[in-house]
Amino acid sequence: MAPLDPHSFTDSTHPLTTHIALSLYFDFPSATIHGAALFTLSSPHSGPLSLDTRSLSIHRVLSPSTLYPIPFSLSPFCDHIKGTHLSLSLPNDAALSSFLITFSTSPSSSALQWLSPPQTFNKKHPFVYTQCQSIHARSVFPCQDTPAARIRYSAFLNVPRELSAVMSARHVDRRLPVSGEGYSNLLPNGFNSLWCSETRVVEEFDMNQPIPPYLFAFAVGELGFREVGPRTRVYSEAADGVLEAAAKEFAGTEDMIRQGEKLFGDYEWERFDLLVLPPSFPYGGMENPRMVFLTPTVIKGNASGAQVVAHELAHSWTGNLITNKNNEHFWLNEGFTTYAERRIVQAVQGEDRAVLNIGIGWRGLNEEIERFKDNLEFTKLKTNQEGVDPDTVYSQVPYEKGFQFLWRIERQIGRPAFDEFVKKYIATFKFKSIDTETFLDFLKANAPGIEKEIDLVLWTEGTGIPSDAYEPVSNLYTKIVSLANEFKLGRMPREDEVADWQGQEWELYLENLPKVVEASQVFALDARYRLSESNDYEVKVAFLQLAIFAKCRDFYGEVEKTLKEVGRMKYLRPLYTALVQGIGKEEEKILAKRVFAEAHDCYHPIAQGVVESILAKHL
Ligand code: BES
Ligand code: ZN
Repeated sequence: MAPLDPHSFTDSTHPLTTHIALSLYFDFPSATIHGAALFTLSSPHSGPLSLDTRSLSIHRVLSPSTLYPIPFSLSPFCDHIKGTHLSLSLPNDAALSSFLITFSTSPSSSALQWLSPPQTFNKKHPFVYTQCQSIHARSVFPCQDTPAARIRYSAFLNVPRELSAVMSARHVDRRLPVSGEGYSNLLPNGFNSLWCSETRVVEEFDMNQPIPPYLFAFAVGELGFREVGPRTRVYSEAADGVLEAAAKEFAGTEDMIRQGEKLFGDYEWERFDLLVLPPSFPYGGMENPRMVFLTPTVIKGNASGAQVVAHELAHSWTGNLITNKNNEHFWLNEGFTTYAERRIVQAVQGEDRAVLNIGIGWRGLNEEIERFKDNLEFTKLKTNQEGVDPDTVYSQVPYEKGFQFLWRIERQIGRPAFDEFVKKYIATFKFKSIDTETFLDFLKANAPGIEKEIDLVLWTEGTGIPSDAYEPVSNLYTKIVSLANEFKLGRMPREDEVADWQGQEWELYLENLPKVVEASQVFALDARYRLSESNDYEVKVAFLQLAIFAKCRDFYGEVEKTLKEVGRMKYLRPLYTALVQGIGKEEEKILAKRVFAEAHDCYHPIAQGVVESILAKHL
């Protein structure tokens, strides 16, 4: 066994999968998917082959041509991070380059959130969606769940006729089911006849560009859409208000795609559609190719919604074309994308907006370094993640320290040279999965002597923030930070000073206040600016954190409401942490436990796990 990735059972001596043909039958009443998957390997193989699974039942493994059974075993124990190792024994007498597996997911599959009709917007139909990054694809279908593998796929999704499906793939057809198609007749007893029932339709998809498994995605529900550009539609639950607001919010998307193409080369994925998910979606955005997934909290009629779209769009080059080989090099995905996002924001929204974003990021980075002061490993760009759950160490460090590193290189060689470098980097490594060393070798080859100017080892392997990192400057940024400093001396900003402020200005201001301020100051701030009622969750959550640290219990009702209406981890993490961290907080701890118990079923399984680990650490 030669591992390739600390988060996968994939063996580097085995061939990787190049294609998977999936047939998935969605059984909403039992929150289960029954599936058949036909795997194609890069070369014929005999003997053992390792796959990742989590909470899957494996029914049969077969040779596709003869339907002879292939022996397999599941490891008796489930690794709490990696899941269950599925080992196949491919025949020794005739090497196989394909095999078939039938399986079922379980209602607790970590990638899947199943929403019952009352949990949806229209309350009429159920909804299900995936979140596979970082290591949850294995809970939807067995696979070599490492970004070192790049897989093409096709999929038949068999769903109730009143629902429709979208995927991170080309939509081929919506049609009546065909008996026996895609090995559906091999599904567990009973499902073969259900496959063709007149209450069902098949949504057919094809992804002919090789993607890492974490970019596999679908959503099934009562979906509608609006056109927002020549290659962009916005999808969401078919509820008029949401679609209209989303179409307005994202009207500038085509402009951003064009800017991205100017900076980074052709947009290779044909379509750039957006899917607005229910409020329980655990992230701000997820860069699923051809169909970005977004939290509805980004729709608020100001610039920050476009920022999240710019970020996910930027992944079309950095992350989806060039992918980190495993999660230890996650900064290659997120640091590069944060840099690229800010270049797009600068081009479409101007320098001030970009500097504000860099400044918010700078604050976030400094806070994360503080959070990891007892675990310095996770203040590095390249991290050791042996035995580490990527969801629990998720932080701003790969984003913001990665951004700072690339910005430092840009300052060294100048923007024109850096732009050329990035274009060449993307053209050279597109559709490949690479590590930090590959990046550094390419950098040194293309910017000769760079290692004499910048301590590349310190930046990629050192802890903390190198001294040649850089806090941004602009009139607006500097003004906001100095107003925050004056608050420490007791002066609140005047109304004329904040008259033009949007969400991000307030966010930057609040993030720069000391963590603990007097309760009276918290009340005064809210009395004047009503931040606890902001419809911008970034602002509201930053304010509520202050309120919790100052033990302003009047705001706990708002804290509870927020924790129950959104499942985005960017908000859950700081609020639950503020409630349970520290001593003498019995009331807050009781509140956190009660709210989590009541909200638990509305959170995505990944968010459930993350909140559980926060509570476990402090209670
Ligand atoms: N790929 C990430 C989301 C992610 C990271 C999911 C790790 C699972 C594991 C996505 O591109 C992202 O960074 N989203 C941010 C958006 C923000 C930086 C604009 C988010 O969700 O907050
Ligand atoms: Zn990202």
